[in-house]
Amino acid sequence: MLSERQSYSSNPILIQATLKAIERRREEEAREPVFLAERVGFEMDSWQKDVLRSQAQQLIILASRQSGKSLVTSLLALWTAIYKPGALVLILAPALRQSQLMHRTIRQLHATLPDAPKLYEESALRIELSNGSQIVALPGSEKTVRGYSGVDLLICDEAARVPDELYQAVRPMIAVSQGRIVLLSSPFGRRGFYHDVGENGGPAWHRTKITAYDCPRISREWLEQERKQIGDFWFTQEYECSFNDDVSAVFRYEDIMAAMSHDIEPQWSIANALR
Ligand SMILES: Nc1ncnc2c1ncn2[C@@H]1O[C@H](COP(=O)(O)OP(=O)(O)OP(=O)(O)O)[C@@H](O)[C@H]1O
Ligand SMILES: [Mg+2]
Repeated sequence: MLSERQSYSSNPILIQATLKAIERRREEEAREPVFLAERVGFEMDSWQKDVLRSQAQQLIILASRQSGKSLVTSLLALWTAIYKPGALVLILAPALRQSQLMHRTIRQLHATLPDAPKLYEESALRIELSNGSQIVALPGSEKTVRGYSGVDLLICDEAARVPDELYQAVRPMIAVSQGRIVLLSSPFGRRGFYHDVGENGGPAWHRTKITAYDCPRISREWLEQERKQIGDFWFTQEYECSFNDDVSAVFRYEDIMAAMSHDIEPQWSIANALR
């Protein structure tokens, strides 16, 4: 007599129903990355769901330390690689060690999905899936970062600490392919491209701002203790998304902006010099 397991696995109706269910789930996941997040075992916070559902070409995430910005972006990277065959996903960070961290998270998430396209090639810097998609961790140096084109998703982790030259070197890589870009960071002073995009980027950017108080995994009590430990300057920067002046700055940003006026004629200008 057949065991119960054998009779199930050879029942054509059951097999067909299972295959249909798998197919349906694949279609849902292809439309909706949130389902992929659930399948790897995470119930996304509502802002993380918004990020995963966004169709925007350009996203900027300003978020507290440990709020889950790297995880949600890793899931977006994995979803892109699985459901857009041949996709090229690049991860940039201030240093190679940091881009490799996200790369490793993506590998670990991928390992929990037995029916995802298999790993075709793997190194500490690059994985290629059997559907031709690649995920590459970039070095944090402007001289060695060039050479990629046709990028589908460009991720810039800890973006507030990525030098402007590095950002300028990678941005053209999404130009022709109309690829997406995600900048994610906690703040780091009122300077650089990340601060500038946040202040002046306009409606072309999908914006998310999440303080530690919005994160269900960080308790109020712990935050109060932390404020006492590290002081207001660092606490407001790391947990309250505040772009503070550089610790060594002599003048506050607001004071400099308030002192600027467009009504004053410069005494020395190029036009004057040429007269
Ligand atoms: N929705 C979620 N459900 C459960 N755990 C989560 C969720 N989002 C993030 N985490 C976990 O919270 C921790 C911090 O997440 P992550 O590293 O993405 O934060 P981060 O904002 O990038 O932090 P940092 O600023 O330190 O880089 C990780 O252990 C991650 O797995
Ligand atoms: Mg992170």
